[in-house]
Amino acid sequence: MKGLRKIGLTLLIFVLMLTTAACSSETDVKPAAGSGEKYTFKLAHITPTDHMWHKAAEKFKEELDKRSDGRMQLEIYPASQLGTEADMVQQISSGSVDFGFITAAYLSSRAPAFTAWFSPYAFKDLEAANAARDTEVAKKILGTLDGQGIKGLDYLFAGNRVMLFKDKEVKKPEDLKGLAFRVTPSPPLQDFYKSMGASPESLPLPEVYAAIQTGVIDGMDMDLDASITNKYHEVAKYGAVTNHMVWPAVALMNKDKYAKMSEDDKKIIDESIKAAAEYAVKTRSAQEEEFKKTLSDAGMKIYEIDQELFEPYIKQFDEKYGPTDPLIQEFIDTFRK
Ligand code: BEZ
Repeated sequence: MKGLRKIGLTLLIFVLMLTTAACSSETDVKPAAGSGEKYTFKLAHITPTDHMWHKAAEKFKEELDKRSDGRMQLEIYPASQLGTEADMVQQISSGSVDFGFITAAYLSSRAPAFTAWFSPYAFKDLEAANAARDTEVAKKILGTLDGQGIKGLDYLFAGNRVMLFKDKEVKKPEDLKGLAFRVTPSPPLQDFYKSMGASPESLPLPEVYAAIQTGVIDGMDMDLDASITNKYHEVAKYGAVTNHMVWPAVALMNKDKYAKMSEDDKKIIDESIKAAAEYAVKTRSAQEEEFKKTLSDAGMKIYEIDQELFEPYIKQFDEKYGPTDPLIQEFIDTFRK
């Protein structure tokens, strides 16, 4: 009897041990955390810290940290601290910088298919442009960077282009005739303005304020966010909220670094950048009215110009750029309504 009780007790203890082990292994389960490798990444971009691109970079940092359980840290270098976009792309390609948010405008000079994003009035609003991120053609355009040691990860949409004027209320495209107009140094953007008779001036962002203040330029192609963060309302009286082109930042990464990561770690990168892009577009879309009011309260006359007036210039753009690259043509055919 005593022997039987002993066996029973031993069995009970064994069963209890098994149950405890099973329970503790269940509660210890953690979300897949990649390879266990630790990273301190660097990301560079050109905008000031109050611009949406920087906020998106901060969101990316937060997501990397959270999704990797702290293994992936990110140092952000804003406001052209690491040089021009040409310098940054060089640094990303050589691996001294891991990530960049780079204008599609600059990239179009290295990979012409990015020109497609400047097809005027291709999207009805920012959300429609954001939805285009997931299309085959958008992904193929990112893929054209492959031969340059760079992986194109995704696009961030944080605003459309508008037109600001120092002291002339431009009400139709033909009113641009003869104006010295700041346009990002990118041929497709410059051609759009040339077709309307403006004289495009290729000025990088940091030189624009002084140029309009001193009358070197009569106006500028800009986004609303940068109009506020750079205080252009102090030097431009009129703001035509045309929203004529999207203005994507392209999220880039050093290609080798990405290729060497485990599949789980690649997934963390991909999902973190996606979360940052969604955050940027959602936040920015909700700010459109607020931004217009901020500029208007600061003394700028804010108004709209009917898209129909631009139709001949849209057609000219499509006819000129579509045939230059199959991806640009595919983009136009996909999105032009
Ligand atoms: C610009 O050059 O117009 C620009 C660049 C980055 C963000 C916003 C505007």
